[in-house]
Amino acid sequence: MNARTCLAIVLAAGEGTRMCSSRPKVLHAIAGRSMLAHVLDAFAGADGVDIAVIAGPKHAEIAAETLRIAPRAEIFEQAERRGTAHAVLSAKAAIARGPDDILVIFGDTPLVRPQTLAGLRAALAGGAAVAVLGFRPADPAGYGRLVMQGNELAAIREDSDVSAQERKIMHCNGGLMALAGDKALAILNRIGNDNRKHEFYLSDAVAIARDMGFKAAVIEAEEDDVRGINTKAQLAEAESVLQQRLRRAALEAGVTMQAPETVFLSADTKFGKDVVVEPHVVFGPGVVIDDGAVIHSFSHLAGAHVGPRVSVGPFARLRPGTKLGEGSRIGNFVEVKEAVIEAGAKANHLSYIGDARVGEGANVGAGTITCNYDGAGKHRTDIGKGAFIGSNTALVAPVKIGDGAYVGSGSVITEDVPADALALGRGKQVIKEGGAARLRGLQATGKKKP
Ligand code: UD1
Ligand code: MG
Repeated sequence: MNARTCLAIVLAAGEGTRMCSSRPKVLHAIAGRSMLAHVLDAFAGADGVDIAVIAGPKHAEIAAETLRIAPRAEIFEQAERRGTAHAVLSAKAAIARGPDDILVIFGDTPLVRPQTLAGLRAALAGGAAVAVLGFRPADPAGYGRLVMQGNELAAIREDSDVSAQERKIMHCNGGLMALAGDKALAILNRIGNDNRKHEFYLSDAVAIARDMGFKAAVIEAEEDDVRGINTKAQLAEAESVLQQRLRRAALEAGVTMQAPETVFLSADTKFGKDVVVEPHVVFGPGVVIDDGAVIHSFSHLAGAHVGPRVSVGPFARLRPGTKLGEGSRIGNFVEVKEAVIEAGAKANHLSYIGDARVGEGANVGAGTITCNYDGAGKHRTDIGKGAFIGSNTALVAPVKIGDGAYVGSGSVITEDVPADALALGRGKQVIKEGGAARLRGLQATGKKKP
């Protein structure tokens, strides 16, 4: 636990025009949650950390996402995009409250890890006024270069302002920065915009701090931690890095996966013990898998709680609001939405179960559909304990099937079925002895088309 207080300033202004999207850049998702949510999550819940998010003028969506993850965060508006230092100063009121540490984090750098941020703060605790993340990308073009004097960081030069000599420097600025709270305003207020782009560069804080006689430190970071996202291609690369981290964590926690590289996880996917996930499974947000469950290949799950020892798939789709009780089975080509499948119940083949309860031990036959939507509203289906629903039944909601009731195959059930009753809702079968032979005769004479 860090006893020092901290203000984390998250820069989330800017449309992100290179994403070619009408959505603000930081709201694009990786591993099932927005980049902004990932960044906020890196320190949400840490003691003594206040959060300030800097958003552009059209910021309602950014504010909503911020408050969803960090309800106590403050939102500041940067009316005009005039540079990273200008953006930080939009939170002047919060900086002036005098936290010990100030962390500046970019909303488009979603892979930053808590330990990397902790490293920056440790440099402040060690006496630096400014701490930056240094890394060595394969291609330094576009990044600010770290200009060293001996072992000391002297300045950061932005790519558009480097000299021919400085362009050769491979050691780059990761962008994220820590500033000592008692010196931050004095440093930030001195940053000007006398550069090629006429922007107020946060990176100038280094040379100014040195000028003022303060220490600047560099903490080495991995490229993945400081990967900034400006394009959809970079978004896809970040997704792949994060998927690898999530798969590794799941394997380390004991999940069995034969082909982890084919399994896609969300940042919040939770697994119990002895879970098996077969190849080609996709976990959307909000999935919890309890002990001993098996998720067979080609299944897609989102917003679902899979109970202990449940079997799902292959080819199952679990949508939000699904709860599968202990030992239940959801088989191939079964879709479940807003439904509770109680312990031991089964729907093994080709079904849609939506807005429903399937009671303990009930059996839902192949091809059964809950007709939950009448074109205007959604209605519920309630299937009692131990009921048997014959194959190819249409349950027209709202409808209730009592405990232990039996519904004959091919029924269209529009009225409630009492407990232990047998319900048949289908055309009566007609037998015509010798009819097939007579038909064939007519066909042969050409009088009757087949
Ligand atoms: C920045 C750094 C550069 C570093 C690089 C690492 C500066 C001046 N440069 O450059 O040294 O190598 O990151 O990726 O800091 N933003 C605002 N308001 C503004 C400008 C930016 O909120 O007025 C936000 C952006 O939405 C983004 C972040 O600040 O999340 C960084 O801005 P960006 O323009 O991407 O800076 P880089 O050119 O990448
Ligand atoms: Mg950037």
